[in-house]
Amino acid sequence: MIPRDFIQTLLGRVDIVDTIERYVPLKKTGANFVARCPFHSEKSPSFSVNPAKQFYYCFGCGATGSALGFIMEYTGASFVDAVEELAQQVGLEVPHEQNSPAIAARVEAQGELAGPMRQATDYYRAQLKGSETAIAYLKQRGLTGAIAARFGLGYAPEAWRNLSAVFPDYDAPRLVEAGLVIQGEEGKRYDRFRGRVMFPILDSRGEVIGFGGRVIGPGEPKYLNSPETPLFEKGRELYGLTQARRAIRDGQRVVVVEGYMDVVALAQAGVEYAVATLGTATTAVHVQKLLRMADSVIFSFDGDKAGRNAAHRALDIALPHLVDGKQVSFLFLPEGEDPDSYVRTQGKEAFEQLLSQATPLSEYLLESLTVGVDMTRAEGRAQFLKGAKAALDQISAPALSLLLRTRIGALARVERQDVDSLMGVAPTQATRNPVARAPRAAPSSLSARLMACVLHEPSLVANHGFPHYPTVMPDERALQAVTAYIHHAETPVNLAAIVEHFRGQPEENFIQEALRREFPGIESSPTEQLATLYAEGLQRLNALTHDRTVDALLADARSRPLTDEEMQLLQQLTSSRAGPRKV
Ligand code: UTP
Ligand code: MN
Repeated sequence: MIPRDFIQTLLGRVDIVDTIERYVPLKKTGANFVARCPFHSEKSPSFSVNPAKQFYYCFGCGATGSALGFIMEYTGASFVDAVEELAQQVGLEVPHEQNSPAIAARVEAQGELAGPMRQATDYYRAQLKGSETAIAYLKQRGLTGAIAARFGLGYAPEAWRNLSAVFPDYDAPRLVEAGLVIQGEEGKRYDRFRGRVMFPILDSRGEVIGFGGRVIGPGEPKYLNSPETPLFEKGRELYGLTQARRAIRDGQRVVVVEGYMDVVALAQAGVEYAVATLGTATTAVHVQKLLRMADSVIFSFDGDKAGRNAAHRALDIALPHLVDGKQVSFLFLPEGEDPDSYVRTQGKEAFEQLLSQATPLSEYLLESLTVGVDMTRAEGRAQFLKGAKAALDQISAPALSLLLRTRIGALARVERQDVDSLMGVAPTQATRNPVARAPRAAPSSLSARLMACVLHEPSLVANHGFPHYPTVMPDERALQAVTAYIHHAETPVNLAAIVEHFRGQPEENFIQEALRREFPGIESSPTEQLATLYAEGLQRLNALTHDRTVDALLADARSRPLTDEEMQLLQQLTSSRAGPRKV
């Protein structure tokens, strides 16, 4: 929905060094900037940011991308959100079909609210240091000073207008807009948070966007949260994500819990990869974000009725976003326990032991479809199949869908084919087109190397040409598409522009593969050597494609008449190359 040339305009405005520096401190070395990689644990920096290419590369773990890719990788943002974020950083407005005034207003409000939120956070933190009651409360809940500092916990004292000490302009509208101050009925203003332990909620840059405040001792409500503000959208944010990011990356798993205290207590016990939804149900944005960041997402809900309902809701929300190769599972704690109480009494090992035994989503789904259904009777099994169809309609992950259908068949005592036809799944048919003839395997090292050459040095295309014979091999087609794009671009393109141009296209995988396999070697080759490498490789590839296609066409011609198109291709090929081959 975002016009493609806007992406290119945006990338033209952005400096990847500035963008990454907002999240990770960079150090200049020569023409590049380096850092310890934010995507894996390491002692010496192998993460490198190249301003000329507008690209980052980690020589340790192979993470690569443009400024846009970085935001997606680092924050778990969707493509559209990452574009928004980047556009905001450089002051561009993303062209939308509608409501751009609303977005502009939001951007402006965000600028005005960030400062007050920061000031309020500092104030609450300072108050905690001076409050014996609040410190005693946190101690009694088993928290150390170190963990309180890590999560920036604070305290809002028991008075009506604490914040007037911080904000001389206590009547300013922006304090109400930030959710810090409430405008009472008769125009009287007072603090939203009073007599509460404060949990700041951070966005991906570590800026405070909202608070949760817990009463000390009994009182209603137990937790008071910031309202939705231009900074804070509950359905998009997760408590603790910023603190947990590295642990989630390293372990490729994330636990989603219900409460603030659960996150903090787990982190203190050494389970640093936990986040919480913010007093709202799990949303699609949450699920997508987490699945982008980790291979395994485990929802841990309390062992009560509310926890069961929350799990159900998370299951429904997750179905359309499942991808093969990633796991979603559910952990139900014993009745009366939450992760906080469990980890405090049983310890980290016991909790992780439970995590490793969490119920996989597929199990949980089948279980919930059979609850209260009499599977010994045909009517019961029909009811089960009806529910199963509704769930399968939501699942687009092919392998998962297949395995589920097999299980569904077994449970309902129906053949798989019958399940498939009932579920409206067409039997898989072998596709018959020329590309299908080509092996589906990884790209040849030759095409991958040439791809890496032009990605590293697009000017090679202008100086040495590009592969020009028709081919059915997907990796060679991808190389042709990329070189054609470079060749036809109006202004010289860099790596970031190429990668973003092909995002979501069939060529994307081959580009990534070339970056992973060949790029580090190519990147460190001297320029002249690179030119020779490219020119020679290109010649070899052209000869190869030529001969292979001619061979394939001739072999076909022996068994069947060629189509007009194939005849034409054969003529073109045999007249265009005077090689050693005699046709
Ligand atoms: P719980 O009621 O399960 O509390 O709320 P908890 O997390 O175990 O809290 P402690 O251990 O008693 O301190 C879970 C989450 O639901 C939201 C909060 O986000 C809380 O962390 N909640 C709960 C509210 O928003 N308001 C409430 O009044 C209660
Ligand atoms: Mn609790």
